[in-house]
Amino acid sequence: MRIDIITCLPKLLESPFSDSILKRAQEKGLAEVVVHDLRPFSTHKQHATDDYAFGGGAGMVMMIEPIDRCISSLKAQRAYDDIIYMSPDGELLTQPLANRLSLKNNLILLCGHYKGVDERVRMHLITREISIGDYVLSGGELAAAVLCDALIRLIPGVLSDETSALTDSFQDGLLAPPVYTRPSEYNGWRVPDVLLSGHAAKIEAWRHEQALARTLARRPNLSMKGEKVLN
Ligand code: ADE
Repeated sequence: MRIDIITCLPKLLESPFSDSILKRAQEKGLAEVVVHDLRPFSTHKQHATDDYAFGGGAGMVMMIEPIDRCISSLKAQRAYDDIIYMSPDGELLTQPLANRLSLKNNLILLCGHYKGVDERVRMHLITREISIGDYVLSGGELAAAVLCDALIRLIPGVLSDETSALTDSFQDGLLAPPVYTRPSEYNGWRVPDVLLSGHAAKIEAWRHEQALARTLARRPNLSMKGEKVLN
């Protein structure tokens, strides 16, 4: 999978991809994330990428020309499955959506800033919009990093135990059960006996029961909405 991220603030995207799982996925050649600075694609003085809004009002608007030039240069090099604008107006990112997108080969993520992008970008250049939640961030960069993380960890071989992504919260419409590690007792707080029993079937049943109880208590709508893996 290759993900091209277009941004006017490339520095914001340096650290999420230079550590841990996202770094290793790239080192193993399983994912490639390329960040493109929008500024060099601007033909304006001082490489401006934004301008005042027609009709007035506070806030700058990202211009279509540098975005079009950047997207066109990428499309000339390879075919893209989707060109995604990160936006609070978009389709909400859920595990089923992440599962579907993780099967794609080439994606472009466009990060908005200021008041957003010229509406003609949304009408003519992008293929979908994705939101990471019902709140407004100051730009799309952190949202793009969240989306990349959710997708890349699903690529086979990225996580050392391939099944672990499938046992995450949400993958079966349930939250994950509680987990414990050593010591088995701390400050008098004991790990549930069943986990120390060595009885695999009992442990599996306990975990399922706990996942159900936790989902009902915390996110009662989740199991009803839960879709199966890769659905
Ligand atoms: N840009 C600003 N807020 C956002 C959000 N909630 N999701 C995706 N992109 C955004």
